[in-house]
Amino acid sequence: MTHTLVYPITARHNDAGHLEIDGCDIVGLAKTFGTPLLVYEEKSIRDQCRRYMKAFAEHTQDFEIIYASKAFSCVAVAQMVLEEGLSIDVSSGGEYHVAKTAGFPAEKMFFHGNNKTRAELEYALDGGIGFVVIDSFQELAMLDGLVGSRGERQKVLLRITPGVEAHTHSYIQTGQVDSKFGFGLDEGVAMEAIRQGMAAANLDLIGLHAHIGSQIFELEGFRRAIEVLVGLIVQANKAYGFECRYLNIGGGLGIRYTEEDTPSPISDYAAVKVEGVREEMARAGLPMPRVLIEPGRSIVGKAGITAYTVGTIKEIPGVRTYVSVDGGMSDNIRPMLYEALYEGMLANKAGAPADTKVTVAGKHCESSDILIRDVALAKPEPGDILVMPATGAYCYAMASNYNGNPRPAVVLVNEGQARVIIERESYADLVAKQRPLHPGN
Ligand SMILES: Cc1ncc(COP(=O)(O)O)c(C=O)c1O
Repeated sequence: MTHTLVYPITARHNDAGHLEIDGCDIVGLAKTFGTPLLVYEEKSIRDQCRRYMKAFAEHTQDFEIIYASKAFSCVAVAQMVLEEGLSIDVSSGGEYHVAKTAGFPAEKMFFHGNNKTRAELEYALDGGIGFVVIDSFQELAMLDGLVGSRGERQKVLLRITPGVEAHTHSYIQTGQVDSKFGFGLDEGVAMEAIRQGMAAANLDLIGLHAHIGSQIFELEGFRRAIEVLVGLIVQANKAYGFECRYLNIGGGLGIRYTEEDTPSPISDYAAVKVEGVREEMARAGLPMPRVLIEPGRSIVGKAGITAYTVGTIKEIPGVRTYVSVDGGMSDNIRPMLYEALYEGMLANKAGAPADTKVTVAGKHCESSDILIRDVALAKPEPGDILVMPATGAYCYAMASNYNGNPRPAVVLVNEGQARVIIERESYADLVAKQRPLHPGN
């Protein structure tokens, strides 16, 4: 098929001329489950987990792959990554709840967030959360107090902003100096955080964390971040005797959304991260810490596709043709938020030549609700099933009910079987939490 590289690993054209993923005909799934529909290929998710585990094991025995559940926080996926030996990172009480519901052991959970509330921290502490990644002085003091009042001790890491600018969209850069996240290096802020973390009576400061951004193709930024982190570790070791036993260098590996994208292989990413830490720590004469990473997008991104039904087609002669589908910014806000680019195809015309240039629009009341600009499709007609690949990360996770659109259903396909892992929301769900102005109506 023409778009192999951006589609899930088992994607193919079947004899009916339809797109099929792991033995499931996408046109058939659209008919059975309705559209918009998110379809995840189980093999892709497991395959990525295994690649990460294998790639890191080739460099060190002391590592942890932590699934960043913000990419797609879902009970079934959390259970899958747990079965594959991963840990999980949660960035809110809600994501913690999803992981907990999935049966994730608390000691394999990392709690992130630049503004964790007291209630969220208490909820996670109640469940015995393994690690809290502290983001601010305020949180450090609050957590120390909360843990102390329970007569416990909590393992923590500090989130450092290493001042490294990743080559990615500015909205998904997180490691630069001007960031809402973490402790910066300027003015001795990170050093002071380490000092306070070590001095906190009820906290066990086991290490540092940094995440420089997402959808990163060039690995140099990661190497640079490691240099900076180790520089800080050396300084804190000299000043306070700080021992960094865990070094979490974030997620960030990019994926292929379009044929032009050229992400680095997981093996190269593992080599840069582990050998980078080894080299820098050896140079400093310090012992090798446990190496932690937190991939999200690269675990689930390519596993997912979204199927829509084509509705209105509007041709503006000499300008462009808009093909509207039955979803859009409420199930995938990435094109509007980050100018993210996607490819597309018609699942029911998978074998036909893609000879018609169109712009795919969503159904929401915003001119910016454009999913794909200038994409070549087989001649589209109302009722066609349009598929966008690589929608597994940060799409359902950011979904909304804008314009009263219920969130789509999510199905998991494996060896010809499709099962619902998230049910489609109903109109009743939209009003389930609403209360009438006048009781009784
Ligand atoms: C702290 C942290 N860790 C991990 C991730 C996951 O990044 P990615 O999905 O690019 O692998 C993110 C995403 O923004 C993050 O903020």
